[in-house]
Amino acid sequence: MSREILLLSGPNLDQLGTRSPEIYGTSTLGEHVSRFTERAEACGFTVRHVQSNFEGNLIEEIHAARGQSVAIVINAGALTHFSWALADALATFEGVKVEVHLSNPAAREPFRHVSTLAAVVNGSIAGFGPSSYDLAVEAVRQLVSPASV
Ligand code: DQA
Repeated sequence: MSREILLLSGPNLDQLGTRSPEIYGTSTLGEHVSRFTERAEACGFTVRHVQSNFEGNLIEEIHAARGQSVAIVINAGALTHFSWALADALATFEGVKVEVHLSNPAAREPFRHVSTLAAVVNGSIAGFGPSSYDLAVEAVRQLVSPASV
């Protein structure tokens, strides 16, 4: 089995850096991905990153990851809060799944308090800014069993 982590970024995350910096900070998505990749590679993983503003593209990437990636780390943006299709797709993926958010949706508007993904992932990391991605690498490292490396 490969040591590939599929890092998925959903709608509007391509605007990070200038999008609501008071909530999401000033780092660009590229900077988050570089930091994540550096940490993951130090743990012996490879990273494939895909950002899409389209739900269907993200779903197809999850399908393609089956039997290919050991883990999916996903920041689904606002799709987190209503996409049952994304949740269904993630449920088909047999590897490790980590939901990640820069902000803490539970402390924000009521519509962000629900995550359709929460029930189908191993766990969720939210509210730590750029460090959410560092913690996601650590979660994958701990959850990927030695048998699958
Ligand atoms: C987000 C939180 C979501 O509620 C929001 O729609 C995003 C970003 C985060 O990383 O904090 O786009 O996923």
